Order: sequence, then structure tokens, then C-alpha cells
Amino acid sequence: MAGLIDKALVPVAGRGTRLLPATKAQPKEMLPVGGKPVVQHVVEELAHAGVRDLLFVTARGKGSIEDHFEPDPDLIEALRKSGKQDLVPSVDASQLVPNVYYTRQPVPRGLGDAIQHGRAFVGNEPFIVALGDSIIGLRGGATATRRTARVFVEWGADAAVAVEEVRPDQVASYGIVRPMAVGEVFRVATIVEKPEPKAAPSRLAVAGRYIFSPTIFQALQDVRPDANGEIQLTDAIRSIAEGGGKVIGVRLRRGEERYDIGNLRSYYETFFRFALADAEHGSRLRAYLRSHMTDRSG
Ligand code: G1P
Repeated sequence: MAGLIDKALVPVAGRGTRLLPATKAQPKEMLPVGGKPVVQHVVEELAHAGVRDLLFVTARGKGSIEDHFEPDPDLIEALRKSGKQDLVPSVDASQLVPNVYYTRQPVPRGLGDAIQHGRAFVGNEPFIVALGDSIIGLRGGATATRRTARVFVEWGADAAVAVEEVRPDQVASYGIVRPMAVGEVFRVATIVEKPEPKAAPSRLAVAGRYIFSPTIFQALQDVRPDANGEIQLTDAIRSIAEGGGKVIGVRLRRGEERYDIGNLRSYYETFFRFALADAEHGSRLRAYLRSHMTDRSG
């Protein structure tokens, strides 16, 4: 299905420090959720949203992501020969999006810097940013991304961000917006990166999906590095919003919850939710978990 926006950047360069030691020698984006790596869920979502050109912004140690999306004719042949034909579509992730490219962020200088590495790829077109460690919806988040893209186009926006309401103890983990109005779609007055709960302008957190016009690159160029030397994407969005640019927030709907696997607790939660929703194993797993609920030895 044709999408409104052809191009997507998928940053996968983060070190995954909050998931060490699991992420010492493997990218967090390759951790399994429901039988596939997290990043495959993200690429499937983008494929369904009509993306045709996808650029991964990778880093050292992320080579297995490239291996995963590379065609592997030998494996396919071996599966066919051994009568495992039915597995072929699941291993051929290379077919999801027509054109997949890679570039590297050589120094970990933050999400904003990672996005800047996509400038030549993006050219003068609007583009999607989909974080490689967040899945939208148990059954694919294509509608959320498509809806955000539609809002971006209809409002003639500079940026549109998907947001979801989080618990007060979670606001310090995300970019939090200050909406100008209530409702499902609203203009954003400003945005703050990881505020203390008391200082948070709302509980609406950026959910890892953004649509940008190329003006974001100019804004990123003007952002000063934070205390950790990182260029924050949130700071660039804030300068657009506070400078009179049009930044639109789009709330995720029921069934479009964001599953962020960036820390161990949220990874566990995500893993369980997908495992329980599994058509083949879900019901037995549910019974298994129930039988262990009262068993304190684990
Ligand atoms: C990044 C962004 C943050 C956003 C979050 C979504 O943070 O900086 O604004 O809310 O992704 O997952 P990170 O998770 O990389 O620390």
C-alpha cells in the first residue's frame, strides 16, 4: 500500500547500557519479542505504512542488524530442500521494504546527532523517524504511523510526534510535551526531555515515532550538546515549537500502546505481552504463569 511518506530513518545506534550484560555483544534491537527481533517489528510497521526507502543509523557492534535484513539465498534454499518451506517468509526480512540502507554514527553523540546522519538520504522530503527499540501495538502499529503522517500533511506541520500518556514515575524517562489544547490531535507549545515529575508539563510522552520536514536539520545544527555531550532531538523539536513552528502531537489510541524495550523491566513486560498474545503458545503460557503465580520460589 502506498504511503504518504516514502522515507524513514531508524536509529539503532544506542549502546543499550540499561540492558547490560545482555547487550554487551548484541544490539538491544535484536532481542526477541514474540519470536522476532524487536527491530523486525519496527520494519514491518514501516512497510505496512508504505515506506519505500529506509535508512538504519547504526554503530559499532550492530552488524547483526545488517545480517538480519540481508537476503540469505542459501538459508532459503536449505529450508526449501528440507521441507521447511513455511519458514521462508519469516526469515526473509529483506523483502519487507524495497530499499534498505545503512550508515554509521561513529561517536555516540545522541539521538539528534544520529538523525543528522540521515540528512543526505532525506534530501528535501518529509520523513519518518521510528526508534528501533520501540514497538507500537501488539498487532503492528502501521495505523498509528500512517495517522501521524496524515496529520503531518493535513496540518502542514514542521513536525508531528506520536505521544502516549505515561505514569507519573515514567515521565523522567521520556520527552514530555506541553499541549496547547486537549484532544487526540493538538499543537505542541513546547517539549522537555526527561523532566523531573514535578517539573513535567504533562504526562504525554513522545512514543518513538516522529514525522519531520527537513527543517529539523537546521534546528539540530543549532542545538547545543547537553551535559553528556549529546545532541538531543527533543531540543531541536523544542526550538521549532517555541520559535513559532508547527509541531503537532498525535495521541496513540487503544491497541496502539508503545512497547519500549530500553530497560529490563519494560523488556520483560513487552516480552510477556507478546508471548501471551501468541496464537500458538499464548494460552498454554497463560496457564503456566497462573500455576506459578503463587509459587514464591519462582
Ligand atoms: C528517546 C528520546 C525521548 C523519547 C524516547 C522514546 O529517549 O530522547 O524524548 O521519549 O526516546 O522512546 P531514549 O529512550 O533514547 O533515552
